Amino acid sequence: MIKVEDVTVELSGLVVLRDIYLNLEPGLHVVLGRNGSGKSTLLKTMAGLVKPVKGRVLVRGVNVHSLPRREAVKLIGYTWQNPYAGFVEATVRDELEFTKRIVGVDLQRDIIDQLIPQRLLDRNPFTLSGGEAKRVSIAMILAIDQPIWLLDEPFDYLDSSGVEAVIKLITRGVERGKVVVVASANTAYLHLLKPHSVILLSRGVVTFEGDPEELSPSVLEEHGVPSRELMCG
Ligand SMILES: Nc1ncnc2c1ncn2[C@@H]1O[C@H](COP(=O)(O)OP(=O)(O)OP(=O)(O)O)[C@@H](O)[C@H]1O
Ligand SMILES: [Mg+2]
Repeated sequence: MIKVEDVTVELSGLVVLRDIYLNLEPGLHVVLGRNGSGKSTLLKTMAGLVKPVKGRVLVRGVNVHSLPRREAVKLIGYTWQNPYAGFVEATVRDELEFTKRIVGVDLQRDIIDQLIPQRLLDRNPFTLSGGEAKRVSIAMILAIDQPIWLLDEPFDYLDSSGVEAVIKLITRGVERGKVVVVASANTAYLHLLKPHSVILLSRGVVTFEGDPEELSPSVLEEHGVPSRELMCG
């Protein structure tokens, strides 16, 4: 469903992603790597928000960078690492209306209800707490119900009920045939997510792609990712 072909990305003259090849089928894929390894840039490139200097990203056979924004948003849900980055309206309710109007589809009510408490609907999104903002930023994009979800550090700021709600959402999405990609700087959620594949990024290069069971603690530590053992305490 998503093919990343020989992609190199430069930002401000620096190579941030180098010669990336990926072939992502429906299922859950986790992108791991230390801070600054290029996870967010990879997700933004797959979403069509960052243009590679070399190579291309094909989504269902179409070059994502040739798609009009409105079409890309219907196909790919990208949720920002910084939850406040996508807010533009004066209230949460208006954010949801804005998404609906711009994309031209009905939003999935159950996704909104699972993540956004009613009491937040009339709040200014910029005044929300970190976890509240994360919930809104995820719900207002994923409620479009795209076949592809790219989630950048979706568990940041969330309490245990928020983590549970997002994991349920991801699991349901995968069951319904979506491609779901989660970017994470640590392995803490690997055992909860049970991904089909793990992609390890190191300084903009893919150093491992495959079965998470094949990731040894030493390989993880080598790449600056805390090992499962360490995370479990
Ligand atoms: N606009 C930019 N100009 C210059 N460098 C940039 C720009 N955007 C990102 N970078 C750099 O590119 C590298 C990759 O950034 P990216 O945000 O993709 O990393 P990440 O793996 O998501 O990190 P984190 O775990 O902190 O979220 C970093 O060194 C970052 O400082
Ligand atoms: Mg990031």
